[in-house]
Amino acid sequence: MAALDPPYACNLSAMREIPGAWRRTAQGAGLLSDTGAAAPTIFAEMSALAAHTGAVNLGQGFPDEDGPAAVLDAARDAISSGANQYAPGRGVAALRDAVADHQQRFYGLTPDPDTEILITAGATEALAATLLALIDSPDDEVVVFEPYYDSYAACVALAGARLVTVPLRWPDFQPDLDDLSRAVTDHTRIILVNDPHNPTGAVFSAATRQEIVRLAERHDAIVVTDEVYEHLVFGEPHVPLATLAGAHERTLSISSAGKTFSTTGWKIGWVSGPADLVDAVLAVKQFLTYVNGTPFQHAIAAGLALPDDFFSGVAAALRAKRDLLGVGLEAAGFTVSRPAGSYFTVADARALMAPGTDAADFCRALPERVGVVAIPLTAFVSRPHRADYATLVRFAACKREDVIADAAGRLAGLAGLAR
Ligand SMILES: Cc1ncc(COP(=O)(O)O)c(C=O)c1O
Repeated sequence: MAALDPPYACNLSAMREIPGAWRRTAQGAGLLSDTGAAAPTIFAEMSALAAHTGAVNLGQGFPDEDGPAAVLDAARDAISSGANQYAPGRGVAALRDAVADHQQRFYGLTPDPDTEILITAGATEALAATLLALIDSPDDEVVVFEPYYDSYAACVALAGARLVTVPLRWPDFQPDLDDLSRAVTDHTRIILVNDPHNPTGAVFSAATRQEIVRLAERHDAIVVTDEVYEHLVFGEPHVPLATLAGAHERTLSISSAGKTFSTTGWKIGWVSGPADLVDAVLAVKQFLTYVNGTPFQHAIAAGLALPDDFFSGVAAALRAKRDLLGVGLEAAGFTVSRPAGSYFTVADARALMAPGTDAADFCRALPERVGVVAIPLTAFVSRPHRADYATLVRFAACKREDVIADAAGRLAGLAGLAR
């Protein structure tokens, strides 16, 4: 691959001799190079390539349209009316009340907004604070489903625990329950469950959900859920693990506003669960950001109160985009795994790859070949397991339909090009 220009190349030599926890964090995320330097994430690299080449960016998962006007207006109103100073440590009361109402309306859960809900700087901070708060020993293990959202491995490593992976295999990406049962032991401190799942778009079956809770009870593990795509499901409504019998008292549920309201830049998230677990997360979170985004917290409170048809409309719009993207990918020669939720579609590029190359090579060349950016699935997989995902590519469907159609048209050109 050609060397990247300075604006998006990482200075690979700058951090080499600096001791600190950054090193195990980067290593956990698979970003520590052989020379001991931290490499940029594949998302930074690919977004830079998109900017550099003018390619259509189906790489990073952010929408290219604004969210509901009512939510945007509520943010402006909050700023105009002076909601511009620190929020209370647990988050503004209006948003904690709105999260509680949302949990009741959609799932029948009844968290106490004063003690069982904590507002965070996106799901990312909620995840980091939760892992840092609950991990206590290098013998602690965190079970995740692989491929996994990249912050999980980074934060588990930062917290000093061991990552234990349960594979999700092409094409339906459902875990094998025997694999799951072998992964969870008395060393398991946390089972971290992302459902609907990034990057695969899988929605876990009822049997998987039940097995997770059964194993957590049996081994006295805490369940931490990442439900940021809770409203982006294309079939049955989302089922939070916290609603299962026996789960509530050991489950911290994490979500955020970014995906539901197309406000990924606002970074408003939340964690809910039993008061003692939420207190433990707060004890760490208050020294990370303390609080964030007061006017945006007010705006998301307004968003969470929108009528049911807003939420079903978000899912229906994304489903149409998923279908458009899937048809385009198949027409271009990919084999497609049809996602049940989330922003993403995973496709097998084997038929379009040059012999001896993998999906990372394919994605690095794609902007120059046809002007599209996508992410190799290996970016979400630990080093020892990358070969199992070597031909798979993740495409984001959370873009305007004309953008997806444009990308599909460009990808159709792959068939006529030399590999
Ligand atoms: C699975 C998953 N969890 C967490 C996040 C981060 O959420 P937030 O932007 O609210 O921090 C993302 C964002 O892409 C995600 O895909």
